[in-house]
Amino acid sequence: MNDVFLRACRREQVEYTPVWLMRQAGRYMDDYMKIRRRRSFLEMCKNPEIAAEITLQPVNRLNVDAAILFADILLPLEDMGYEVEFTKGEGPLINNPVRSGNDVERIRVLPEEEITPYVMEAIRLVRKEIAGRVPLIGFAGAPFTLASYMIEGGSSRDYLNCKKMMWGAKDLWHELMSRVSRVILNYLRAQVKAGAQAIQLFDSWVGTLNREDYREYVMPYSKLVIQGLKDLGVPIIHFANNGSTLLELVKEAGGDVIGIDWRINLDEAWARIGYDRGIQGNIDPAVLLAPRQIMEEKVKDILNRAENRPGHIFNLGHGVHKESRVEDVQALVEMVHEYSRRA
Ligand code: CP3
Repeated sequence: MNDVFLRACRREQVEYTPVWLMRQAGRYMDDYMKIRRRRSFLEMCKNPEIAAEITLQPVNRLNVDAAILFADILLPLEDMGYEVEFTKGEGPLINNPVRSGNDVERIRVLPEEEITPYVMEAIRLVRKEIAGRVPLIGFAGAPFTLASYMIEGGSSRDYLNCKKMMWGAKDLWHELMSRVSRVILNYLRAQVKAGAQAIQLFDSWVGTLNREDYREYVMPYSKLVIQGLKDLGVPIIHFANNGSTLLELVKEAGGDVIGIDWRINLDEAWARIGYDRGIQGNIDPAVLLAPRQIMEEKVKDILNRAENRPGHIFNLGHGVHKESRVEDVQALVEMVHEYSRRA
């Protein structure tokens, strides 16, 4: 079994820097589009055989060191009582967003055994089919990112409704975050019990907050989720997109490995986080569309900044763009393996 990724998460010495990519499965791959043309995204997520097949596509095509479950951070919202839709071109929409106390009261907190059973079945199938080739990462949205979708009803630029509730209806905000965190914890615990060997918590939209607001309104909940997984013993990767200003607090919230985006240099980020944690990142996903020589320079630059310290997992600073070409993604993975191979 290739356990380079898991050993790097534990900051053990490894033969080369392991690499996987956020959104490594998806629309840039013809294998994915073959299935996608005949089905909606949600149908694909809810069919365990299909979800397992798509999870394995990048493992087969890219030689990455980990698989990430094909699913979405918004899937548990349905079990909480929300109607989620993925519209063409506009991203996700929630038809009944949270606007009042009543909306918060009706959020259902399902026990571990009842949340998205189709996701857990997909995990069991992947583990069987992957037969130990690489470890499987499970994931969830972090409390702020999920709550912001529930309040805004979809993607947002300024998070005005979200901040209005956070500052203007504190009790409601804390009740909402408390329920969302308990759902995320149950969802992740179920994933580990089904076979996920590491967990990534995606705080994709938290970069809209400053340090003070993160500390007061968000950190306790991310901490609760991460602490609640400790007894299961799997590594936790905590990724805060656009979170360069928040790094010390993201670390304080928890995680064995801190994921960073491309806006900050990896050496600077790691020094601030501290070498008692691993780091994941951080090439700009747009580099996949750059000339090969630029890609090479940037891969080398990141590896140099990591200085062969134990605990670096190579990744993009955010998800693969759908405009990327498979051969360029393959080239990136190969470069990381080649340039990082230890003597
Ligand atoms: O990384 C992987 O390969 C695993 C699969 C995965 C998906 N979504 C599949 C997906 C993961 C880890 C996610 C997480 C996710 N989903 C996040 C956190 C990561 C991030 O990007 O910050 C967020 C914010 C979402 C919510 C979401 N889902 C959005 C905003 C969109 C629309 C994006 C777009 O470009 O249209 C989705 C849909 C989605 N999730 C797709 C995939 C492959 C595209 C669906 C399609 O085929 O149309």
